[in-house]
Amino acid sequence: MLKTLYAKLAVVLLALFCVIGGIYVALTMLTTRLYLEEVNQKLNRTLAANLERQKPVMKNGRIDRSMLNQVFDALMAVNPDIEIYLLDPAGRILAFSAPPGRVKRDFVSLAPIQRFLGGERLPIKGDDPRDPARQKIFSAVPLAGGGFLYVILGGEDYDSVVQQLRASYILQLSAVAAVSAVLFALIAALLLFNAMTRRLRVLASSMETFKQSDFAVPVRVPDHRTSGGDEVDRLAATFEEMSGRIMLQMNELRQIDLLRRELIANVSHDLRTPLASLQGYLDTLLLKEGQLSADEQRHFIEIASKHSERLGRMVEELFELAKLDSHVTPIRAENFSMAELAQDVVMKFQLRAEKAGVMLKAEIGPGLPLVSGDIALMERALENLIENAIRHTPARGRVIVSVVAEEGRLTVRVSDTGCGIPEEKLPFIFDRFYQASESREGAGLGLSIAKRILELHGASLDAQSRVNVGTTFAFSLPIAS
Ligand SMILES: Nc1ncnc2c1ncn2[C@@H]1O[C@H](COP(=O)(O)OP(=O)(O)OP(=O)(O)O)[C@@H](O)[C@H]1O
Ligand SMILES: [Mg+2]
Repeated sequence: MLKTLYAKLAVVLLALFCVIGGIYVALTMLTTRLYLEEVNQKLNRTLAANLERQKPVMKNGRIDRSMLNQVFDALMAVNPDIEIYLLDPAGRILAFSAPPGRVKRDFVSLAPIQRFLGGERLPIKGDDPRDPARQKIFSAVPLAGGGFLYVILGGEDYDSVVQQLRASYILQLSAVAAVSAVLFALIAALLLFNAMTRRLRVLASSMETFKQSDFAVPVRVPDHRTSGGDEVDRLAATFEEMSGRIMLQMNELRQIDLLRRELIANVSHDLRTPLASLQGYLDTLLLKEGQLSADEQRHFIEIASKHSERLGRMVEELFELAKLDSHVTPIRAENFSMAELAQDVVMKFQLRAEKAGVMLKAEIGPGLPLVSGDIALMERALENLIENAIRHTPARGRVIVSVVAEEGRLTVRVSDTGCGIPEEKLPFIFDRFYQASESREGAGLGLSIAKRILELHGASLDAQSRVNVGTTFAFSLPIAS
């Protein structure tokens, strides 16, 4: 019941109109009665005085009974509602025109009579001798010998509004007019409310559609103004924007969730392989205890150790990547010399390069400007690139790390004369766990980490490669101001 705003408004309006209508009717009836009494009393104000002048009922200080009866009869013929009473100066009823037995009072109050004679504003009501509970309009005049002629003007008395209405055609007409006016206003107001709440209903149903679509389909609210509208227009516009935003975020969340699941699947798969070999070699050692020669034993242990090392490295790199992804460790940017950093890292790998028979060299121009970034992370990225280059370059090859200033940026290139990466594999080398070569020495995470680090610095990592010619990785950072 009353689920819509419109229904609620309509009910409130209906109640309001009923109350107003009731008050109006009651007020009309009351004023009509008072008005009739006022007019009646005004018209007959001088009735008592005229009677007394033309047919004096007191003669020489005594009641003239025959005159009194004449007056009574004449008045009865004109208007049976009019009653005449003869009062002494204290208000006691001395004689009356009503049939005997109908008069219930001996006295009437003199105060209203004094007010009437004093010329106060009409209507003034005095005691009705026939009914102790009622008051009626009257006319009165003081008599020469003391006392008053007291004329009750009567008039209709109604017990209820319905009775009063039934008695008057004009009142009926005016009641019909009033009810029609109220009805008309009510219908007009309901139509108006209906039109005004229609847009709210449209908005509500749009919202419901959005909910039913499981927040997946953004909603267009039909016909609303996009600028300069009222509250409903603003609500509609905000809701449209909100539904679009929610949908985007839901999609994003789904995407992230998918990636995460994929990642977990990959991680468990890639960790399982070295773990299985490790387990295999250890099992063999245990099983063939005493049957293996010292050299064989040593060989198995060495392989197991290598797998364990690889496993450890994978876990460490995964952890590193997770940290970079989750922004737990914010980058600590400072101004530093990329030239010096490149030189240091090259120095660090010199021994390994020599062992592999690869020439490793830094080519750094003089007087290079500083860049802004996190040194530790940048070192990590460089290490990954140089390590890859050395690993994939055969003996007598070259690995060159160059740093040059170009177009307001500092560009770092790590190029080698190694095996290169086939074109079809190039797009995937930055993926986690992806390894282009079959060797399976690393974890396949180094380039993902380097790329992520550069992303955090607002830079990108580019790779160019030709099979059996060589590979070049490059990135550039903005020069520090
Ligand atoms: N300089 C390069 N020359 C040829 N191939 C490369 C070079 N650098 C990377 N690759 C290829 O890209 C793959 C991904 O490199 P990445 O550094 O991400 O992993 P990884 O070196 O195998 O393992 P990790 O760095 O985690 O120890 C490598 O497996 C390799 O096949
Ligand atoms: Mg690597």
